[in-house]
Amino acid sequence: MNTLRVALDGPAGAGKSTVAKRVAAALGVAYVDTGAMYRAITWKALQKGIGLHDEAALNEMAHTIHIDFKPQPERQAVFVDGQEVTDAIRTFEVTNNVSAVSAVAGVRDAMVKLQRDIASRTGVLMDGRDIGTVVLPNADVKIWLTASVEARAMRRYQEMLNKGVECDLEQIKADIQRRDEYDASREHSPMVKAEDARVVDTTGMSIEAVIGEIQAICRSAQAQKS
Ligand code: CDP
Ligand code: CDP
Repeated sequence: MNTLRVALDGPAGAGKSTVAKRVAAALGVAYVDTGAMYRAITWKALQKGIGLHDEAALNEMAHTIHIDFKPQPERQAVFVDGQEVTDAIRTFEVTNNVSAVSAVAGVRDAMVKLQRDIASRTGVLMDGRDIGTVVLPNADVKIWLTASVEARAMRRYQEMLNKGVECDLEQIKADIQRRDEYDASREHSPMVKAEDARVVDTTGMSIEAVIGEIQAICRSAQAQKS
């Protein structure tokens, strides 16, 4: 079994999940989308009408929620307490509220524990915001994936158009900037590049080119490890 542990962090729309899925499959390690975990809690809080600043209720929910990932050919399905929420956690409503929920210390503690448990059992490629700094500070590979905010907003815009969702490019750009600022300035495990992370700027790079570069970095770390 491949025991490599890869931390892939960076801002919204950098290409983390697209790249992570493919590279994890090629390496034969589990893919853990930690953003989906924070989205799942946010989705459940919205469903239950829990106030997004009600720290006690969010804390309790984060410690009892059951989140499962099931890899499928084209995507990774996400389940909350047995119910499939793969699409439900990607709505604008969840996206615009997830930063507030993920800033709650108790929520982060619960998720970091789950993430470390997974990584203690298997090789992983984990994508998120604090993987290289907090979740897996001893990861074999740390990558900070980024791109200009214009490129990231354009990618999200295209993604929405492809899904047939009408949206405004400037609005998407403003939402991304606001979420990045919130994630980077929160008190508990803010989004920040680990000092020892390799920076890969994907502005103007094709998905295939990014996958090739990340895979090469991981393969070289794997060769050193064995
Ligand atoms: O896919 P996108 O970049 O839009 O976001 P995501 O990776 O699904 O993450 C959604 C949100 O979850 C982020 O904006 C952060 O607020 C939070 N998050 C976090 O705090 N820590 C992580 N390790 C991953 C995500
Ligand atoms: O997970 P994260 O928010 O970092 O980004 P993503 O959801 O993987 O990628 C956002 C969008 O950008 C997706 O629609 C990708 O297909 C697209 N993308 C791209 O056009 N070029 C890249 N080099 C990487 C991603």
